[in-house]
Amino acid sequence: MTDGARVWGRELLTLALKFGAAAFAGIWNFSVRICGVSFKQNKTFFIETFGCQMNFHDSEKVAGTLVSQGYRQVQSAEEADLIFYNTCSIRDKAEQKVFHRLADFKRLQKQGKKFAVIGCVAQQEGERIFERAPHVSLVAGSASYRSLPEMLVQIERGERVTGLNDRNTSETFETEFTARTNPYRGYITIIEGCDKFCAYCVVPYTRGRERSRTSESVLEEARRIADSGLTEIQLLGQNVNSYCDPLGKRSFAELLSEVGQLPGIRRVRFTTSHPRHFTRDIVEAIDSVQTLCDHVHLPVQSGSSQVLSAMAREYTREQYLERVSWIRAARHKQISMTTDIIVGFPGETVADFEQTLSLLDEVQFDGTFSFKYSPRPNTPAIDMENAIPEEEKTRRLAILNDRQREIQRSNYAKHLGQILEVMVEGIQPARDQVVGRTTQNKTLNFTIPSGMAAPGVGGYAQVRVVRSYPNSLVGEMVRATETSRR
Ligand code: 5AD
Ligand code: SF4
Repeated sequence: MTDGARVWGRELLTLALKFGAAAFAGIWNFSVRICGVSFKQNKTFFIETFGCQMNFHDSEKVAGTLVSQGYRQVQSAEEADLIFYNTCSIRDKAEQKVFHRLADFKRLQKQGKKFAVIGCVAQQEGERIFERAPHVSLVAGSASYRSLPEMLVQIERGERVTGLNDRNTSETFETEFTARTNPYRGYITIIEGCDKFCAYCVVPYTRGRERSRTSESVLEEARRIADSGLTEIQLLGQNVNSYCDPLGKRSFAELLSEVGQLPGIRRVRFTTSHPRHFTRDIVEAIDSVQTLCDHVHLPVQSGSSQVLSAMAREYTREQYLERVSWIRAARHKQISMTTDIIVGFPGETVADFEQTLSLLDEVQFDGTFSFKYSPRPNTPAIDMENAIPEEEKTRRLAILNDRQREIQRSNYAKHLGQILEVMVEGIQPARDQVVGRTTQNKTLNFTIPSGMAAPGVGGYAQVRVVRSYPNSLVGEMVRATETSRR
């Protein structure tokens, strides 16, 4: 760079700092490199996300990274220069849905917009996406997000970019730029990927092998979340309790306890746990650290040991029930349990299915997410014999949901008359209700008696339960709880 150019560059840099770099841009691809500082301004992006909480949190990290690179987030594809589509392939005809959506986006290409497909379908379909949707510029799986800044530069140059070969990495995607879009809960990924290879599941193929972050970096992020004013943290992992501190300092239960004891933190949740690694010390931690929420989501998938073995779940019905008995034996807390169930796995007999129903009766879950088995590409179960016809899967699912509904009707009714603490998650103006969540993860919507002020989103209140439904409670606020730091 000549001296003249350097002076001109410095002037521009001063102006940019004075008026905000945004004043210097206007068009996609605008990029000025001054004294090593790159101003890429006014480029906008939109992210559409499908799937699990891990995906939603990945989108927060992707958004934060984009903002750190000079992009601005907007709320619709129409307003955006760069459209990210974060996909999920866990069930159903995920791939077709993605291609339909990409076809919808095609009409926006004429306006110069660019498209990025990320997440599990991106990893699974790979470069086939370019073949079927040539307007796409980037196809990347979650293990490659840490290379996003470089990939963005390539997209800007008009290149086609893939990030598909990083699944065996030992690195995690840590970024201090996470755009926290949830106004009351801070998510922290503590372990990425999954090594379990359940026979029906695509996750090990799409998210790669398990890799944990150091407990120090998790605690540092938790402190940052607390400092930002959020009081609830959720630790995330496809297999959260397989967590293994690379420096060997803390077990999962110890990490959980320490996060719960950070100043300012009032609620800690974690998901999803695998029964195989669900150890007693996790229950002891929940029972002894007041801020750890009274809720465990422990996917069982089936009540039949035969089916569990075919699914390669690595536990039996009896071993699952033993974990339930530890949870039920907690001395200080009544820990609520929820689960995931798959009906119609290949070879599931009527007797197997009845065992799942009897497990529901025995455990009395407060919630189940139940699914018809859906054959997924590349998974061992796709080639298994004795597939269950679709109508039979539908029949079993309906029976299961009916049975569970009655269990929940009675479980939720037990709260009538109780005063429970809720965190406020939003307002339902149409019903004149505030949306709250209990520590047991139950929705408790409530009204505010006249003369009382409603707590804001993220605030806490004591609420008396006056009505119950199979999936939610309704109450009346007794008083707002102190929301300031402990
Ligand atoms: N078919 C049906 N359900 C599935 N799940 C995962 N893979 C499949 C599949 N192929 C369910 C499991 C898991 C939840 C996230 O999704 O119950 O726990
Ligand atoms: Fe999929 Fe099994 Fe891993 Fe859960 S534990 S993500 S169901 S492979």
